[in-house]
Amino acid sequence: MSKNFLEAVQSRRSIYALSKESTISDARIQEIVEAAVLHSPTSFNSQSSRVVVLLGDKHDKVWDITTETLRKIVPADSFEGTAQKLASFKAGYGTVLFFEDQAVVKNLQENFALYAENFPIWSNQSSGILQHVVWTAFAEEGLGASLQHYNPLIDDEVKSTFGIPADWKLIAQMPFGKTASAPGDKEFQPVEDRVKVIK
Ligand SMILES: Cc1cc2nc3c(=O)[nH]c(=O)nc-3n(C[C@H](O)[C@H](O)[C@H](O)COP(=O)(O)O)c2cc1C
Repeated sequence: MSKNFLEAVQSRRSIYALSKESTISDARIQEIVEAAVLHSPTSFNSQSSRVVVLLGDKHDKVWDITTETLRKIVPADSFEGTAQKLASFKAGYGTVLFFEDQAVVKNLQENFALYAENFPIWSNQSSGILQHVVWTAFAEEGLGASLQHYNPLIDDEVKSTFGIPADWKLIAQMPFGKTASAPGDKEFQPVEDRVKVIK
């Protein structure tokens, strides 16, 4: 990690063109995900986030599950585009599955009834923070990634295939791999319309 934090934040992009290679070892991938899970904040320090990293044929499998699930519901004449998009994710090196443990959320709701409605929201926000840390850390290592949401369509089969605990709710899927082609430019709305400093 040589860049400063804001440069790293700036360099993270949604990368859809991935190759089945990694710029770093599997051990380093695990180290990054573990550090992100340990040190990303969670509401009430509840540590509700759960992560599964799929590599090799397990990575392929999650995109096969997604493809077959969508084949059943997407109209046949528009399925080709969907299939191509899913193939681009399968073309990557691995996938990070982000979950939130609903047993933890429920426990918080029971113990702190005043905030009961907020805990699911905060749980999602905690997952989003974690996703961003992993995404940015991967970018720093030269790994491209994107954020996908085929939940809840794929939840049951993902859980049964990979032995995921029943209380873990799938929040997002992050396919990653060596960047095969750089993303296009991104348009920005004027930042002065989005940020106000009031003294
Ligand atoms: C909460 C959230 C949900 C997103 N969901 C998806 C998604 O389902 N599929 C996808 O391709 N990109 C998804 N994205 C990526 C955004 O489209 C992308 O971050 C945005 O267009 C800016 O581009 P950049 O990531 O290259 O900076 C999501 C991003 C966020 C923050």
